[in-house]
Amino acid sequence: MYNTIKTELTDNIFFIYINRPDKMNALNAEVMKELALAIDEVYTNKEIKSAVITGKGEKAFVAGADISEFLALSDLQGAELAKKGQVIFKRIEDSPKPIIAAVNGFALGGGCELAMACHFRIAATHARFGQPEVNLGLIPGYGGTQRLTALVGKGKALEMMMTGDMIGAEDALAWGLVNYVVAPGDLLLKSTELLQKIHTKAPLAIARVIKCANAALDHISDGYEMELNEFGACFATKDMQEGAEAFIQKRVARFIGE
Ligand code: COA
Repeated sequence: MYNTIKTELTDNIFFIYINRPDKMNALNAEVMKELALAIDEVYTNKEIKSAVITGKGEKAFVAGADISEFLALSDLQGAELAKKGQVIFKRIEDSPKPIIAAVNGFALGGGCELAMACHFRIAATHARFGQPEVNLGLIPGYGGTQRLTALVGKGKALEMMMTGDMIGAEDALAWGLVNYVVAPGDLLLKSTELLQKIHTKAPLAIARVIKCANAALDHISDGYEMELNEFGACFATKDMQEGAEAFIQKRVARFIGE
């Protein structure tokens, strides 16, 4: 049924696998469309009590939005891309049923943002998190500037977003980005264990705690608007073209501040 994701319903848990392992599970337009449909299933299918989002393959959860789709975009199209991503990720965050991220490797850029849109995160020991958009003359555009700041605090969030450096699973645990770090082979087991415990609680109460916890951060919603406008504006810069081209050509980018 899906091309770029795989889904599986086991014991009322809906497993959503991003399935482009040869491209580090990068989020292209097709993945985003299919992910949105899978999230619709979470909302509407009564058999589904919760969901896990993870990546196929051993290396990557998701290594970001698909950079090869960036080069042709204008500033307005860049903002539209961010808007679409923000809407899908907000639907994950607002899901009345728990959705957790099982981070099985690189969670970079849009991948880190996808993990952060989930209700909480469990990481494998080899997971790496980062917002490397500045390497491309870009900024996070799928809610990352807002959710990272909320999760790890402004200082650490700005360090991650300004250096573009990755952090490992243990730092992510210490910084509050993930709730647990487990051996790669235990990742889905730990996710299942936690979700089965949550399944024994009152579903409407679970939906209400999600709603209330999300409301705690509602004051930042203007920040999302600003993020998508600033993300779009990056596409009008020479540096963004240079950054994306350099990535594709596997060379170091030369930024000129234009
Ligand atoms: N978009 C498009 N393609 C991507 C991608 C992305 N975000 N991340 C990885 N890929 C592709 C690579 O281009 C490569 O494709 P190829 O085999 O056709 O050349 C393939 O996935 C494997 O990636 P590669 O870079 O060769 O693997 P690696 O193990 O050397 O490095 C990463 C892994 C994740 C560190 C590296 O791929 C990377 O830095 N990715 C980009 C991360 C990023 O900037 N994300 C933010 C985007 S806004």
